[in-house]
Amino acid sequence: MKILGILGSPRIKGNSDILLSRALAGAKEAGAKVEKIILDRKQISGCKDCKKCNKTGICVIRDDMSEIQGKILDAYAVIHASPVYFWSMTAQMKAYLDRWCVFFAADWSWQKAYYPQMKGKRIGLITVCGDTNVHTADPVVHSFKSTAQMTGMHWLGAVMAAAGDKREIAQNAKALQEAFDLGRKAATP
Ligand SMILES: Cc1cc2nc3c(=O)[nH]c(=O)nc-3n(C[C@H](O)[C@H](O)[C@H](O)COP(=O)(O)O)c2cc1C
Repeated sequence: MKILGILGSPRIKGNSDILLSRALAGAKEAGAKVEKIILDRKQISGCKDCKKCNKTGICVIRDDMSEIQGKILDAYAVIHASPVYFWSMTAQMKAYLDRWCVFFAADWSWQKAYYPQMKGKRIGLITVCGDTNVHTADPVVHSFKSTAQMTGMHWLGAVMAAAGDKREIAQNAKALQEAFDLGRKAATP
């Protein structure tokens, strides 16, 4: 069983990264193999809405997303982590998420080729915002949760935390525990 962590923050070892690492530690404790992908170290262009993938299931853009797509297909669960940038997710995370188009047919149902691996796949989220009100991240949760609901994925829930300075979240025992629990839940059938 493989649990995939997708980091949307460009701040390596920052708050989202710390929480994602805790989630992956939780998954590991539950017996899973884990892998973290740092989107900022990948080349991922935005979706062009050319619709070619609707028919073929293959994206015309040749970049690092094709490798990540394979890892998503193989993963038992995918846990995403993004800070809030201007009341939304980071550009890195948005470019990645838009490229999920490749999984869908024109009517937003799963491509037949991907349906067996994607239907019911577990998906979770971690958000961090500088605002003390964690609900500043609600639009990010809405985006991932709606994607999961629209496609019949298994929504694991969201850990929402507040922190500003680079490693500030390391002092937040509650958020660290919630992230660990999210990872453990992701890896527990
Ligand atoms: C470009 C940019 C935009 C931001 N916009 C917001 C925002 O709209 N609301 C908010 O609460 N925090 C905002 N923040 C603060 C980050 O969410 C916060 O510093 C967070 O801890 C960063 O997480 P990281 O360490 O995982 O990168 C912004 C930070 C940056 C760099």
